[in-house]
Amino acid sequence: MTTMLLTRVFPPQVGGSGRWFWELYRRLPREEYVIAAGEYPGAREFDRSHDLQIERMPLDFRSWGTIAPTSLAAYSRAAWRLRRLVRRHDATRLHAGCALPEGWLAMRCRRRLGLPYAVYVHGEELRVFRSSRELTWMARRVYRHADLVIANSQNTARLLRESWPVSAERLEVHHPGVDTTCFRPAPPDAGARRQLGWDDRPVILTVGRLQRRKGHDVLIRALPAIRQRVPRVLYAIVGDGEERAALQCLVDELGLGEHVRFHGSLGDADMLRAYQQCELFALPNREVDGDFEGFGIVLLEAQACGRPVLAGQSGGTPETISPGRTGEIVDCRRPDTLAEVAIHLLSDAAVRGSLGAAARRWVLEQFDWTAVAPKARAGFMAASRPAGGRRDAHDLTGRAASFHGTNARS
Ligand code: GDD
Repeated sequence: MTTMLLTRVFPPQVGGSGRWFWELYRRLPREEYVIAAGEYPGAREFDRSHDLQIERMPLDFRSWGTIAPTSLAAYSRAAWRLRRLVRRHDATRLHAGCALPEGWLAMRCRRRLGLPYAVYVHGEELRVFRSSRELTWMARRVYRHADLVIANSQNTARLLRESWPVSAERLEVHHPGVDTTCFRPAPPDAGARRQLGWDDRPVILTVGRLQRRKGHDVLIRALPAIRQRVPRVLYAIVGDGEERAALQCLVDELGLGEHVRFHGSLGDADMLRAYQQCELFALPNREVDGDFEGFGIVLLEAQACGRPVLAGQSGGTPETISPGRTGEIVDCRRPDTLAEVAIHLLSDAAVRGSLGAAARRWVLEQFDWTAVAPKARAGFMAASRPAGGRRDAHDLTGRAASFHGTNARS
């Protein structure tokens, strides 16, 4: 029995869904899974560096709709290629990395070849689907015909149940995990800090694409207040994206050039050093025009490195943290609230130390891939059994449900 994961985003492309799939499927038995991933510069070299069964195919369509003739042609080409890959690998089941375009292709394949499919939901794509009637209609169909819908957080699952709607018995929460052997604490390293241009300044770090919902702008707006109490504070931003120019303008406008450093996109090794050496990690996310953070793997990576974290009271990020024990959840719509919490954490090394130690323990207990991957596999296997043999949906979500209990939002 071979399952084929069909995903547009996969390393070497940077991003949360790609990280999730890479970390998960490389831990599953090689003979049971094959990956059909989108093409990307550097993909060939990357694929020579691992032993997963992988195929590449064009999945970067100009539009996810099927009305435009060019998209229709792209879908048809991809569907034809997918069927060939399915036959070549004798695949009996598909996993779609997202509803569009992968889920649509999986649904077509189901119609032609009778393969059941599961589809992942990350959260951010739901707003994109809502932006047009055509995309909403397509995504609804994909979710309706899926045997299993996998949400990355309880929050994403709730939205799927309430607004799409996906029935509870076909919906499961699989939180992404973190590689705690790679993301691990390290002692302060003056050389590494010098290389990053941080020296001995107190550093708040954010890692992630520069997108409005991630809230870099709110933290920049909070900096004047933070600077009053922590004069040498430095805000280090790792990642790139469409907001880069707007954020640079904001920094210039507020005269904060000395307090903000844009690192751009870093390689994994440099990014790891940044996590390990920062004083505080922040993902000051909030909802912007319906766009929200589905989960937030960066918060797991920072906690695995023993860093205290601060995250927004929005989307699925509260599920990554044990509030008050490993970090703080803050209403990040307001720079003054964010500044207050950041000042408190930056001013007290002892508090940071105990939060950071608890953060490491928390991710080891709850999110380590060595436990998360077998649970995900068990979920896939249970979903593929005939209806009567399927285990109770609560089994897999039980752990997440208890997160929800501890992290319940007001
Ligand atoms: N090497 C490197 N360099 N990695 C980076 C960089 C960079 O500059 N920037 C981000 N990353 C990596 C992080 O290490 C992390 O593993 C991933 O990209 C970002 O993941 P998320 O924090 O989860 O954010 P996302 O917006 O890209 O992901 C989306 O899907 C995830 C999985 O469902 C969002 O919906 C997330 O909320 C969700 O967790």
